[in-house]
Amino acid sequence: MADSRETLLVNAFVTGWPIKHSRSPIIHGHWLAKFGIAGRYTREAVAPEDFPAFISKLKDGSSGYRGGNVTIPHKEMAFALADRPDAIAEELGAANTLWMEDGVLHASNSDVYGFTANLDEQSPGWGNVDRAVILGAGGASRAIIQAVRDQGVGEIHVVNRTVARAQELADRFGQNVHAHAMEALGEVMSGAGLFVNTTSLGMDGAPIPQFDFSTMLTNAVVTDIVYIPLQTDILKQAEEQGFVTVDGLGMLLHQAVPGFEKWFGLRPVVDRALRDLVI
Ligand code: ATR
Repeated sequence: MADSRETLLVNAFVTGWPIKHSRSPIIHGHWLAKFGIAGRYTREAVAPEDFPAFISKLKDGSSGYRGGNVTIPHKEMAFALADRPDAIAEELGAANTLWMEDGVLHASNSDVYGFTANLDEQSPGWGNVDRAVILGAGGASRAIIQAVRDQGVGEIHVVNRTVARAQELADRFGQNVHAHAMEALGEVMSGAGLFVNTTSLGMDGAPIPQFDFSTMLTNAVVTDIVYIPLQTDILKQAEEQGFVTVDGLGMLLHQAVPGFEKWFGLRPVVDRALRDLVI
């Protein structure tokens, strides 16, 4: 019998609005070629009002896709429309990985995994801290809070321009998650061992404020989930002040792993060649 990988073309997508700048096709294309899998991973630009119809076609099999990745602004809707979200998607109320299995649409969220795997690789021991500061309180921040909390970090301080959004997250997570306005940043950074930027601060080209990392622990790790540019202004400042920094590209690469395995059946590895390709 012929190898099924040669005869069966498996299709997966990445959908968002907009989607044309997504790097995900480069990542999956690299792995498909590396494994010699007869598969395709393609961009699907889907407007929010068309997303339910897109998911209906995935469910009834007429789209020809086995599954795919979902990005902004569809993550919450993807979770809501899935037949079987897993525990992490339930926890976050958002899904970024979808796959069909026996006629059932499954959903997961690999952002927590991607963030954790990147730091595990780049800065082992990163989660062994008493205090972490997370800047931002959007959808991305929620996954990061979960990832940091999974490490057993004692206190997590969420700082946001709109303090009400930080408070919403603190209320949702409870216990050791605290909300603050930007003015409190200096105070909560004191003694912290981890700083994560989850905001788009600086991405619009506007200058960012000067951050003072000096009161953090000397071995603190500063990381950003933004990866364009690779060295964000926040990471630049932290590095200039002598801190270990980890860029966000690894999170993007690692979050792609679980989806690839679901659709194409093999677990890929994040290697240097892939990093160089995606930059
Ligand atoms: P995502 O899902 O990527 O997290 P989001 O939900 O739009 O996107 O959240 C963006 C985050 O970046 C928010 O924390 C936002 O702060 P507000 O809640 O006050 O809007 C933050 N952010 C964006 N631009 C910012 C800026 N110029 N200064 C400070 N925070 C900013």
